[in-house]
Amino acid sequence: MKIGIDKIGFYAPHIYVDMEKLAEARNIEPAKFTIGIGQSQMAVAPITQDSVTLAANAALEIIDDEDREKIDFVIFGSESGIDHSKSGAVYVHQLLGLQPQARAVEVKQACYGATAGIQMAKGHIALNPESKVLVLGSDIARYGLNTAGESTQGAGAVAMIISANPRIMELENHNVYLTNDIMDFWRPIYSDKAFVDGKFSNEQYILFFNKVWEAFKSKSGLNLSDMEAICYHLPYTKMGLKALRTVIDEAPEEVRERLLENYQISTQYNRNVGNIYTGSLYLSLLSLLENKEDLKEGVRIGMFSYGSGAVGEFFTGVLQPNYREHLHIESHQRIFDTRKEVTIEEYEAIFEETLPRDGADIELNIEQDPASIVLSGTVDNKRQYVNKNS
Ligand code: CAA
Repeated sequence: MKIGIDKIGFYAPHIYVDMEKLAEARNIEPAKFTIGIGQSQMAVAPITQDSVTLAANAALEIIDDEDREKIDFVIFGSESGIDHSKSGAVYVHQLLGLQPQARAVEVKQACYGATAGIQMAKGHIALNPESKVLVLGSDIARYGLNTAGESTQGAGAVAMIISANPRIMELENHNVYLTNDIMDFWRPIYSDKAFVDGKFSNEQYILFFNKVWEAFKSKSGLNLSDMEAICYHLPYTKMGLKALRTVIDEAPEEVRERLLENYQISTQYNRNVGNIYTGSLYLSLLSLLENKEDLKEGVRIGMFSYGSGAVGEFFTGVLQPNYREHLHIESHQRIFDTRKEVTIEEYEAIFEETLPRDGADIELNIEQDPASIVLSGTVDNKRQYVNKNS
């Protein structure tokens, strides 16, 4: 039985910062951000968006009534969850109107959470072929104003339905995974900003990629020539390129050209959204599928997932017949076309605007946020969510 990605949706907040202007404001050569880091725009989350609303908005565009009946497992991958106890999955389950006989959990391992969710979903579908699983990767990446990590922030979510007989991508079973306890990036529970050992995190990302790639080749008997493209977790778009370059010489010239060209296409969306942590690899996949018009069905895509701390995984998927008909290209184009640029001063003010920490109630202005699902405030320490269209 084939198991894989049946639908894939995406959402990013309606405002962004131009990276050249951010560089100028920080007295940094703009080319460092646009070429050295490889980012052009950075999505900024208004206070009315959190990891729950981003995920729910990403799922909203792909869910239909049949999905509402068949989804019996919601897996919410996030490292910027809104509660230490209750999972974001339960909120999303309610906001989407899914049938009640479902499991709903949150999975955390830095940017690896959604990949763990997909692998758990595969097991669930193998046992329950009639079911569907909703896997969400949703995050707001925050390092802080004027920090080295600032240029690698972002916000957004990817939602995927995993099912039998998937219409977009069958997930193959040669997965190779690796865990090692390292401190390259972490966020203690008292902090709303991440701590990072930047250079070390870059090194470990590449080391993990090299190790899982070597093991993958032995396990699967496949090599670079068998991959039409490799999509990467993209904390910033230069990162995956650095990893790809460490193995590219294993391939003949024409394969090298193909992989490098497809790599650039797979980074287009990420370049204009920034790091969305758990959803990042899947945003890269979406970028490739939606922006490369002549990507043929039946080809194999390699996927490298990396979650600091750290867990890495390499796996592959095969594109299904007519997969392009099941993408939401126009609505994703609309997300980018309708976004508004904010000035650096506006971005800084939005960044500093946080919910009360003393339990006070707050009512937020939801009219400024065009998203369907928004956070309207807090009452008695409970977040209040609204679907404006229901
Ligand atoms: N023109 C062109 N390029 C320029 C330039 C210019 N004028 N000035 C500098 N550059 C280049 C540098 O040469 C460098 O390129 P290489 O890496 O190819 O050598 C690049 O710009 C970045 O320069 P620095 O290394 O000096 O940048 P930095 O020290 O300010 O920080 C960073 C970069 C470490 C990525 C930092 O932004 C950071 O800590 N980010 C958060 C951590 C992160 O994203 N780590 C990635 C791996 S961990 C992971 O993947 C999990 C996750 O999601 C967090």
